[in-house]
Amino acid sequence: MHSTSERLSPFDLMASILKGVKLDNSNGSSEAVPASVVAILMENRDLMMVLTTSVAVLIGCVVIIMWRRAAVSAKKTVVPPPKPVVRKVVVDPEEVDDGKKKVTIFYGTQTGTAEGFAKAFAEEAKARYEKAKFNVIDIDDYAADDEEYEVKLGKETLTFFFLATYGDGEPTDNATRFYKWFTEGKDRGDWLKNLQYGVFGLGNRQYEHFNKIARVVDDLVAEQGGKRLVPVGLGDDDQCMEDDFAAWRDLVWPELDKLLRDEDDATVATPYTAAVLEYRVVFHDQTDASKNDSIQANGHANGHTVYDAQHPCRANVALKKELHTPVSDRSCIHLEFDISCTGLVYETGDHVGVYSENLIETVEEAERLLNLPPDTYFSIHTDKEDGTPLGGSTLTPPFPPCTLREALTRYADLLSAPKKSALTALAAYASDPSEADQLRHLASPVGKEEYAQWVVASQRSLLEIMTAFPSAKPPLGVFFAAVAPRLQPRFYSISSSPKVAPSRIHVTCALVYEKTPTGRIHKGVCSTWMKNAVSSEESLDCSWAPIFVRNSNFKLPADSKVPIIMIGPGTGLAPFRGFLQERLALKESGSELGPAILFFGCRNRKMDFIYEDELNNFVKAGIISELVVAFSREGPSKQYVQHKMSEKALDIWNMISEGGYLYVCGDAKGMARDVHRTLHTIVQEQGSLDSTKAEAMVKNLQMSGRYLRDVW
Ligand SMILES: Cc1cc2nc3c(=O)[nH]c(=O)nc-3n(C[C@H](O)[C@H](O)[C@H](O)COP(=O)(O)OP(=O)(O)OC[C@H]3O[C@@H](n4cnc5c(N)ncnc54)[C@H](O)[C@@H]3O)c2cc1C
Ligand SMILES: Cc1cc2nc3c(=O)[nH]c(=O)nc-3n(C[C@H](O)[C@H](O)[C@H](O)COP(=O)(O)O)c2cc1C
Ligand SMILES: *[C@@H]1O[C@H](CO)[C@@H](O)[C@H](O)[C@H]1NC(C)=O
Ligand SMILES: *[C@@H]1O[C@H](CO)[C@@H](O)[C@H](O)[C@H]1NC(C)=O
Repeated sequence: MHSTSERLSPFDLMASILKGVKLDNSNGSSEAVPASVVAILMENRDLMMVLTTSVAVLIGCVVIIMWRRAAVSAKKTVVPPPKPVVRKVVVDPEEVDDGKKKVTIFYGTQTGTAEGFAKAFAEEAKARYEKAKFNVIDIDDYAADDEEYEVKLGKETLTFFFLATYGDGEPTDNATRFYKWFTEGKDRGDWLKNLQYGVFGLGNRQYEHFNKIARVVDDLVAEQGGKRLVPVGLGDDDQCMEDDFAAWRDLVWPELDKLLRDEDDATVATPYTAAVLEYRVVFHDQTDASKNDSIQANGHANGHTVYDAQHPCRANVALKKELHTPVSDRSCIHLEFDISCTGLVYETGDHVGVYSENLIETVEEAERLLNLPPDTYFSIHTDKEDGTPLGGSTLTPPFPPCTLREALTRYADLLSAPKKSALTALAAYASDPSEADQLRHLASPVGKEEYAQWVVASQRSLLEIMTAFPSAKPPLGVFFAAVAPRLQPRFYSISSSPKVAPSRIHVTCALVYEKTPTGRIHKGVCSTWMKNAVSSEESLDCSWAPIFVRNSNFKLPADSKVPIIMIGPGTGLAPFRGFLQERLALKESGSELGPAILFFGCRNRKMDFIYEDELNNFVKAGIISELVVAFSREGPSKQYVQHKMSEKALDIWNMISEGGYLYVCGDAKGMARDVHRTLHTIVQEQGSLDSTKAEAMVKNLQMSGRYLRDVW
């Protein structure tokens, strides 16, 4: 007998799962014959498809390579603008002894807040203490390896740390190496006894591990002999982080006065006001503009192949579909980015970072408020005309020359509530003195309550505030430096596996569409962009975005036989769809699969049971051993994943006891916390442990990497 009746090929198994074909090869021979015929047909069809696609892809690659070459050589004919050479400091400042006390200010940032505070702190400190030298540095750039961290940190005498906390109480990407080294080696004694230090943490109280990184580093430095100058500052993004920073800073100055000011130092601390940041702006005429396409095709067009947040990869939207049914009043989008021919790669469980665009209606409103024509073509610079750097070291690296429309579309965060520093900058350019006064008041310590209510709690966007203060018309250099923060990339848990979709990155994105207290509808920037995206299936002129991949440690166990428990309600399902695809591929390549239970939750089976058919097919194919769904709005009582977990307490306990892994993905502020509590209860009850022992066991699962969370 031909082998196709026994073993289904990877292609038809996948095809069936994706197409929803009923599969049953355990059944008797009556089913086996038609199944094999179908399989052969499908195999051949797929083979044909693979062949034709391969040819198409090959042609595509050749065309793209030729086009890139052409683009490169075309560019060579025009003189490229002189790029400022950013050189890293090679000379160890330690070795230059100018008699000044050296202060090192570290930051660990993801979206720039920690960096901004670190630099603002240094600017003010420089103004206050002329006899000291301040060096602000990304903690990742400080040392190339663990040994260098040890050597250099051991020599420091005065340092400050500005550290943000992310994910599941994790450091920022660039602080990960330092944090791992610093927290893992613990037998160094009091080697930091010559170090005086302060820590300011950036976090958000709504998360379970509020400011964990800052608190851990603060404790560990003290444990290893460091002398804490001020209590650790706990910045809370949920309220006003600028106030938390100001309060912490005001505790630091008296301590630094003692250390960095001589007895005879007569200079009185003059009240310091930070200058309003500003780029130098150069306006270009339209004929220049048409020649330059400011958006580079790809971050690595000039040879280096590593994509990251600074060098994203341009990827087309290949497919888009709505996952909710028409009766749902919400939306969740399945989107596929085409990464063929880009060199971009990913692993199951990774995140994709997506730079999206503001809606045209948002951009047009900003243009009206700035009172400038959209086709204004300009470039921004951080140096003066003679090449010397502009004062503020806190300026974000400039975006490429472009029109105002493009700058507002791609680079400006127009819908977040403005920071106090943005209000101060607006005040400086308000021609109506009473508006200027009101803006200054909102940004001042006296106006604290009003800022909390009128700006933060009301979720007033920058545009709403500019509308309320129409006389404030900042010039472009100020607007992009100090008023509108840079639009940040959004992260998504990749919902595919490269084993099944090597040339696609799948995203599962819930639409943000919320009425704010002022009655404004907040249309989430990136989710709305995805909802409106045009795929290459629909049009040759399809949507694209600069994207990059961020590695995560949310990975399947190395041994596919190990039992896994997956908990992912709503879009928390995303990475598990990738996991399931990977398990499918593993099974196809002959690996044996251990049991896998998936807890999913949604409101109602008829509205938002996303990927329902696929999940059912995964069950039929033995990729999921049990699918448990909690519907929160079907029965008389609200059912959530944690309730379903309690019902399956014994199964969960058994799987954990057999060395199983537990994965949680989705909302960090509510769901992950409830699931964590439920897990604790299950362990306590099933294991007949007291609360402390149960806690220790859960902690141990976490430490050994068997309890992993991908939460946001
Ligand atoms: C590691 C990671 C993985 C993630 N994975 C996924 C995933 O798989 N699927 C998914 O759908 N999402 C995921 N997210 C969330 C995602 O990154 C975005 O945050 C989400 O899509 C919303 O982005 P947005 O630009 O559409 O909304 P934004 O415009 O950024 O608004 C987002 C939220 O901020 C609030 N908000 C901000 N400013 C205002 C304002 N001025 N007025 C009112 N409200 C405001 C709103 O409450 C809104 O809910 C993930 C996040 C992380 C960090
Ligand atoms: C996805 C996400 C996860 C976060 N997780 C935590 C957390 O676990 N604990 C915490 O205290 N703050 C958390 N925060 C808040 C950030 O630390 C805070 O916004 C901080 O200002 C970011 O600083 P940065 O701009 O320097 O990266 C989180 C923020 C985001 C967007
Ligand atoms: C366009 O590119 C040319 C050459 O690369 C450069 O000299 C010019 O300044 C650029 N114009 C703008 C508006 O950026
Ligand atoms: C991380 O470090 C790299 C290399 O120093 C740097 O280019 C990048 O901007 C840093 N990332 C952040 C978020 O600061």
